[in-house]
Amino acid sequence: MSTAPFTVAIDGPAAAGKGTVSRALAQRFGLAHLDTGLLYRAVGAQTLDGADPIKAARALVPDALERDDLRTAQVAQAASKVAVMPEVRAALLDFQRAFARRAGGAVLDGRDICTVICPQAEAKLFVTASDTVRAARRHAELLARGDDTTLETVLRDVRARDARDAERAAAPMRPADDAHVLDTSDMSITDAVAAAIDIVAQARAARGLPVER
Ligand code: DC
Repeated sequence: MSTAPFTVAIDGPAAAGKGTVSRALAQRFGLAHLDTGLLYRAVGAQTLDGADPIKAARALVPDALERDDLRTAQVAQAASKVAVMPEVRAALLDFQRAFARRAGGAVLDGRDICTVICPQAEAKLFVTASDTVRAARRHAELLARGDDTTLETVLRDVRARDARDAERAAAPMRPADDAHVLDTSDMSITDAVAAAIDIVAQARAARGLPVER
C-alpha cells in the first residue's frame, strides 16, 4: 500500500449512486472510505431526539455513526436541515480533512468534498442523475427495507433536499469546475463503477501510483 496522500473526492445529490461508486473505488484501490452524509445524519438524528444541532456536531463521536436509524427518510431531511448551519459544518470540517489526507489514501463522498473539504483531491467526481431516476432508486431501496412510502413522497423529498442542499449559503452542493461529471441516469451500476474506476486509475497513473491493488 502506498503512503502518499491520495484523495478521491465525490459529490452529488441524494441517490445518484455516490455511495456505490465510492465503496467500489475504495475496494478496488485499497482506500479508506468515509460517507460524509452519515456525519450530518448522525447530527440530524440527535436533533430529532431534542439535541441542539451545534452542540451535537461539536460532540460527535464515531459511535454515533453506528445508529441503525440513520438511513430513514426522516433522518435524511433532518440531516439536510442541520447541514445549512455554518457552525455545524465547521464542527465537522477537521475530521473530514484529516480523513481525506490519511496515509494510504481515502475516498470521501458528500456534497462539498471537491469544493470545500478537499479542493486539492487528486481525483474529483460529481455523480448525478435526473431527480425522477434518483427518486425511483431511493423508493426501491426504502421499500426493500420495509419503509411504507410512495414514489410521489420520495420524489418530493428528493426535490426538497436538492433545493436545500444546492441553495444554502454555506458550502452549497455544486460540481467543482475541475470535477468529472458522471451522469448515471441511463447507466447501469456496473458501467458507472467502471467509468469511475477509469477516472481514478488515470489520476493514479499520472502520479506514478499503483493502479492494481
Ligand atoms: O449523502 P446523504 O444523503 O447521506 O446526506 C444527507 C444530508 O447531509 C444531505 O441532504 C446534505 C447533508 N450533507 C452535506 O451537507 N454535506 C456533505 N458533505 C454530506 C451530506
